[in-house]
Amino acid sequence: MFNEIDLSQIDLTAAAPAEEPERQYYFMALARTRTEELKKELSRPLTAHIETFGCQMNFKDSEKLQGILEEMGYTLIDTEEADFVIYNTCTVRENANLRVYGRLGYLHSLKKKNPQMMIALCGCMMQEPQVVEKLKTSYSFVDLIFGTHNIYKLPELVSHALEVRGEKRMIIDIWKDTDQIVEDLPSERKYFFKSGVNIMFGCNNFCSYCIVPYVRGRERSREPEAILKEIRSLAADGVVEVMLLGQNVNSYGKTLKNPITFAQLLKEVEKIDGIERIRFMTSHPKDLSDELIQVMAKSRKICHHLHLPLQSGSSRVLKEMNRRYDKEKYLSLVEKIREKIDDISLTTDIIVGFPGETEEDFQETLDVVRKAQYDTAFTFIYSKRSGTPAAAMEDQVPQEVVKDRFDRLLALVQEIGRERSSRFLNTVQEVLVEEKQSSQKGYVTGRMMQNLLVHFPGEESLVGKTVRVKLKECKGFYYIGEQE
Ligand code: 5AD
Ligand code: SF4
Repeated sequence: MFNEIDLSQIDLTAAAPAEEPERQYYFMALARTRTEELKKELSRPLTAHIETFGCQMNFKDSEKLQGILEEMGYTLIDTEEADFVIYNTCTVRENANLRVYGRLGYLHSLKKKNPQMMIALCGCMMQEPQVVEKLKTSYSFVDLIFGTHNIYKLPELVSHALEVRGEKRMIIDIWKDTDQIVEDLPSERKYFFKSGVNIMFGCNNFCSYCIVPYVRGRERSREPEAILKEIRSLAADGVVEVMLLGQNVNSYGKTLKNPITFAQLLKEVEKIDGIERIRFMTSHPKDLSDELIQVMAKSRKICHHLHLPLQSGSSRVLKEMNRRYDKEKYLSLVEKIREKIDDISLTTDIIVGFPGETEEDFQETLDVVRKAQYDTAFTFIYSKRSGTPAAAMEDQVPQEVVKDRFDRLLALVQEIGRERSSRFLNTVQEVLVEEKQSSQKGYVTGRMMQNLLVHFPGEESLVGKTVRVKLKECKGFYYIGEQE
């Protein structure tokens, strides 16, 4: 139930509690009163849509936004033809920004047809001052802009936006950084059986090409008790797999009042009944400890998969990138991991065309790819992000050279990926079923501990269950199997 509030009697901010999350629950109730009135006026539900760009962090943030929107009386739908549309943006590469600008034109045309419509933009791109300037001058139909540090304030911001709706005013609330973590707000889940769990926010690494530390702020860890409480409640709600999320999970806990290591946190998560699988991302190679490898090797629940971004195989380029490891250190880490966890699946991120990258540097990258034997590698063309040290570096690599290197890298990565993933052929594996297959009737798709996908004949009722599947055929990046 929500509390009815007579809006005409109230100064929105004066009556609100100062403490969080109570303050936001107050605004949720307030906004709900407003949306109930609007629904009555229109004799229909008020709809909302969230479009998410970018990484797992953003998808997790969008689940929080969705939980809050539902609490405020909105019905979530799958199209942008809604009364309230939020774009949760990414800015890690220039392309991500261009996609958002491209789609804003379409949103404007929808808004002209539906005068009820409100448009909000949030996420990493909004943390860039030049983006906000551009939106103010050229996209004045946007109602609300907020950033990465204050998404928990959505109820308060929407309450204000609902008040001034139709007045052609843009509400902008961007914070440069924060040390605050607000717990216990509502959140929705896309899957009933698995969930991402933030364990930390921000990044302190300042890799020279990367904009993330500027838009996500300084590293801060959640208290272990808050994380464990959330996972216990997810388990009670039927979740069997958790993905612990952070830009660099290996430095988890270092800045807490009572410091704890990531490996210690994993051991605590492992104790929670009902949780069958634990995943995490992302691991920075410079901080991956022997303790973590040991805990992973011993665990029955921690998935044998490590995402270990390489970025470049050239020690010279790695130094320029400020990665704080070199080719030899990376390869010896891979060797150590494979020694202790022989069925590990390794995946990575690689950037091609970092300023000054020579053919020799690129050959070093190919060499590491051959030696590390990744199951999958996400390959990116270097994108210049203004404000980062790399953007000011001379010697940017010509586009056609980068494109040629990118194609060669992709071909190698795919060849190795195909060979690697066939290593489980004819074995029986535990597979957590994730969804009904849309392209092949009567089939479902699941995931092995090593993150490989398996298609096999099965009913939708298997979704969320772990079953044993014999892997009969390898199709490159997935298997066809049969339930045992
Ligand atoms: N250009 C290209 N790729 C980038 N990444 C981060 N910043 C850039 C950039 N400026 C890649 C890195 C990172 C992944 C999430 O995105 O490989 O690991
Ligand atoms: Fe960016 Fe480096 Fe931080 Fe990853 S570790 S988010 S690449 S700065």
